[in-house]
Order: sequence, then C-alpha cells, then structure tokens
Amino acid sequence: MTTISEHVSCEIRPLAAALGAEVTGLPLAGAGRAEVDTVLALLLRHRVLFFPGQHLTIDQHVGLAEQLGPLEAHPNLRNAGLEHPSVFELAASSGGIADEWHTDLTFLPSPSVMSVLNMIRCPEVGGDTMWTNLELAYEELSAPLRDLCDGLTALHDATPHNRPEKTAIHPVVRVHPVTGRRALYVNEHFTRRIVELSAPESDALLGFLTRWVAQPRFTVRYRWTEGTIAIWDNRCTQHFVVNDFTGERIIQRATVMGDQPTGLGAPRWEPFTASRGGATTRHDRQLRHVLRQRDQG
Ligand SMILES: [Fe+2]
Repeated sequence: MTTISEHVSCEIRPLAAALGAEVTGLPLAGAGRAEVDTVLALLLRHRVLFFPGQHLTIDQHVGLAEQLGPLEAHPNLRNAGLEHPSVFELAASSGGIADEWHTDLTFLPSPSVMSVLNMIRCPEVGGDTMWTNLELAYEELSAPLRDLCDGLTALHDATPHNRPEKTAIHPVVRVHPVTGRRALYVNEHFTRRIVELSAPESDALLGFLTRWVAQPRFTVRYRWTEGTIAIWDNRCTQHFVVNDFTGERIIQRATVMGDQPTGLGAPRWEPFTASRGGATTRHDRQLRHVLRQRDQG
C-alpha cells in the first residue's frame, strides 16, 4: 500500500518504463477533492492511469470527470445508443475504432486536456489500447532535430471525421502548462501539414515523427477488463486501439477540455509560400486557405 497523503492511500503499479500505472484501492465513485488531487498528481507522473474494478455509473463517471475540468461530448461524432450531453459512447464489434495513433481532438483550437474512459464491455481477448509518451519521444530526438521542431507549427484537421474544414494550427512542440516539459505534438490521424515547410518536406518530417513516436519503447499496452476507468493526459500522450478483436467493445468517454496549446514562443519562420506556380501548388491549397481565414479572423 502506498500512502499518498494523510487522506488517501492506494496501490500503484507502474506498467511500463515509459508511462502508465495501474491504481487499486482508490474508489472513484463519489471521489472528493483529496482523491481527485491524488489522481492529478499521479497523472503528472505516469501520464495514463488505469483503475480496474470501478464499475462506475454514468453519473459517477461524469461526476469524476467534471472535477477535472469542463466536459465536451464530441464535436463531430454522435452517439448511437446513448443520449448524454457530456459522454461520448463508442460501440464496435469489429473495426470502427481509432486504430491510428492520435491525441484526442487536436483539430480544435483548444483540444482535449484529459480523457476519462469507462470500459463498459470488452472482448475477452483483443481490443487492447496503447499509449505513447510524447515527452520521451521528444527528448530522444537529436539536438538539431529538437531545435528544428521547437520552431515549427502544424495544421491539424478533422478529415477522419469527414470534417476537413475543422482546422487548428498548433506548435509542433507543446509545453506542458503544469510541468513545463516539452512534448512532440503531431499525430498521424489529425496532423496534415507543417506550416513552415513545403509539402514534400512536411510529408517527410511528419512521416518520420509519427513513426518515431510509435516506437514500442515509448509505449504501454493495456489489456482491458470491464469496469476499468482509464484517465490520460492528452497534452503529452497519443493512443491507439489494437484492431484485432471480434465481439462487442463499448467505451464511454468523458473529455475534459482546456486551454490552447502553447509552444516555445512564436514560430521561428514564416508560413511556407511557393516561390513558383505549378502543378504542385495544389498541395498548398488547404494551408493557404486556413492561413487566409486566420488572418481575416
Ligand atoms: Fe482517442
């Protein structure tokens, strides 16, 4: 038993060297300030936490998540079987899951800060979720590449939800507002373009970075049991659902919204503009459109 404070004691079992811990002996139903503060402190250390055997009702789930910040159900996707203003339900029997590395909702100007997931139903085997530590991924880049990334921004959009017009520009390196640590903030699901680079340069760098963050040594993989609550910090992680299951998998997610991501100051370079016209300028169309909208707005 690990004693966290005079009010809270629980068992904490790290699951991988990079990130992730399982917490037992901390009932989350009706959690008060002391428990929530404990969760937040543990989250800063481990980045993703798993609380098996909680079996929270939807109101208990929302009650917990609301203490972490304001909630938003889902800006693009509607629930099939559940009517609730602040919970997003995703039911899948095979496929139809987020099997591409991503941070939740990065196409929003103020994306999700934390996610609180309730595993309602899961197959006996398969459908694990993986998380990766974006701070470790950043730290392990060479100094010149870290320096380049520090000065860049990237365009994200909601194309995976058929809403390509929903866009946001964020720093490629995000500074965590609580810890001050730097994290690589681009993901293969929502990030389309490095603003300051040409289209082929952007493709090459994004391709490299999105493969880099997925290295097994930066990750943890969790095998679910029903009734588990998971909480993760979207400011420094990405996740990926392993698409290998048959049978029903139902999650309910409360998404805690937050502030705008901040980088290390203004981008060091101007947005890319083609020096000569030609067929390849079509690759710059979306970027030009978003920048024009931003400058007008
Ligand atoms: Fe997700």
